[in-house]
Amino acid sequence: MPSHAAVTVACDVKDLALADTGKRRIEWAFQSMPVLQTIRKQFIKTQPLRDIRVAACLHVTAETANLLIAMRDGGANIVLCASNAWSTQDDVASSLVRDYNIPVYANMGENHEAHYSHILAALDHQPQITMDDGADLVTNLHTKRQELLDNVMGGTEETATGVLRLEAMAKEGLLRYPIIAIHGALTNHLFDNRYGTGQSTIDGILRATNMLLAGMTVVVAGYGWCGRGVAMRAHGLGANVIVTEIDPTKAIEAIMDGFRVMSMGEAAVIGDLFITLTGNKSVIARDHFEKLKNGAILCNSGHSNVEIDLDVLASLASSRRPAREFVEEFALRDGRKVYVLGEGRPINLTAAEGQPASVMDMSFANQALSVDYIAKNHASLEKRVYQVPEDLDKQVAKMKLESMGVKIDRLTPEQEHYLASWSEGT
Ligand SMILES: NC(=O)c1ccc[n+]([C@@H]2O[C@H](COP(=O)([O-])OP(=O)(O)OC[C@H]3O[C@@H](n4cnc5c(N)ncnc54)[C@H](O)[C@@H]3O)[C@@H](O)[C@H]2O)c1
Repeated sequence: MPSHAAVTVACDVKDLALADTGKRRIEWAFQSMPVLQTIRKQFIKTQPLRDIRVAACLHVTAETANLLIAMRDGGANIVLCASNAWSTQDDVASSLVRDYNIPVYANMGENHEAHYSHILAALDHQPQITMDDGADLVTNLHTKRQELLDNVMGGTEETATGVLRLEAMAKEGLLRYPIIAIHGALTNHLFDNRYGTGQSTIDGILRATNMLLAGMTVVVAGYGWCGRGVAMRAHGLGANVIVTEIDPTKAIEAIMDGFRVMSMGEAAVIGDLFITLTGNKSVIARDHFEKLKNGAILCNSGHSNVEIDLDVLASLASSRRPAREFVEEFALRDGRKVYVLGEGRPINLTAAEGQPASVMDMSFANQALSVDYIAKNHASLEKRVYQVPEDLDKQVAKMKLESMGVKIDRLTPEQEHYLASWSEGT
C-alpha cells in the first residue's frame, strides 16, 4: 500500500489518512455493481478511452469511485470534483487519490468559494469529455473557460435538473458540444430515481430524526420518478401520504395509485413531514410556512436547496438552533416550531449515503457506455442534448438481468412476424 508521501496526483481532499476506510467502502460497493464490473473488464481489454481527458463533476461516493476506476482502466485520464458540496464521502475521495491515482478536488461541506474553485481545478485538466450532475461543470466551462470549448467532444449529464438547464442552453443556441442525458435512460430513472432515491430519501430522514413514519401525514411534493418512489416507500412504512403536483396527468396518476392529492396550501395545514422532489424552487414558501402545524418537519431530496424557501423561513423565526445532527429548529414568532433537515439539501446524500450501489450500477453503466459512445461518435453529433441510445439502454438492462441469473423469453419468428404485420390478428 503506498504511503501518503507516495501520492503524486493533484488533489484537495480532507485527509489522506481516511483512505483505508474509503477503500473498503469502494470495494463493498463494487460487489453490488456487476454491470459496471463487466464493462470494466471490457474496457481493460479494449482501452476505448485511451488518453482521453475526462472531467467528472459527480457526487463523490463509493459508487462514483467505481465508475471512475472503470473509466481509468479503459484508458481515460480522469479527474473528479463534487457536484454537491454536501455529499462528498471524504474517505472515498482520499482513497481515489491514494490508491487509484485519480485526482480529486472535494471536501464534505466545502464552502461556495471552495466548491467553485474545485470545479475550475477540474476544468484546468482541459477535458475532452465532461460528466456532470446538475450542469455546473458545463455552465462554468461555457462561462469561465470558453477557450477550452473547441477541444471538447461531448459530455454526459446525470440528473433531471441538469438536463433542463442544458436543454435551455441548447434552445438559446449556447450549448457548444453534444450532451447525452443519462436521466432519460429507462435503466436510469425507472430504478435510480424511483427505487434508489425512494429508499435512500427515507433512509436519510430516518437517520436524521429516528422518527416512526407509521401514522404520520407525509406530504410528497412532485410525483415524478423520485416522488413516486418516496411516496411508495413512505406508504409502505405506514404513513398517510399526500401528493402535491403542478402537472394534471401526474396528479391523476397519484390519485389512482391511492394517494390524496391537493395543493401545497391545503397540505401545509395537515402535514407532519414534507419532502420536496420537484427540481423547482420555492415549492414550500411564505404562504405555506404561515400555515404549518407546530412541530412540522421539512426536507428536500430534489437536486438543490432552493425547494424550501429557507431565507423566508429564517426571517419568520425569532431564533434557531440545532435540535440534533441534521435537524435545525426554527422557533417562529407566533410560538410554533418548525424543523428543517439537512439545511434543505438532498437529505439522502446529506444524512445517508445516497443511492444504493446496485441501482447506481445501471446508471453508471449508462454513463460509462455513453462516454465510450461519445468518444467513438462525437464527430457526427450535433451541439444539443441527446437521449442515451436505445440499444445502450437495452444492453444495460440485459447485463443486469444476466448478473441476476434471470432469463426471459425471446420472440419466436412467428411472434416477430405477427407483431410487425398489419394483416394478422384479425
Ligand atoms: N436526491 C437524489 O439523489 C436525486 C436523485 C435523482 C434526482 N434528483 C433530483 O430530484 C428532482 C426530481 O427528479 P425526478 O427524476 O423525479 O424529476 P421529474 O421531472 O420526473 O419529476 C419532477 C416532478 O415535480 C413536479 N413539479 C414541478 N414543480 C412543482 C411544484 N411547484 N409543486 C409540485 N410539483 C412540482 C413536476 O410536474 C414533475 O412531475 C430533480 O431535482 C432531480 O435532479 C435527486
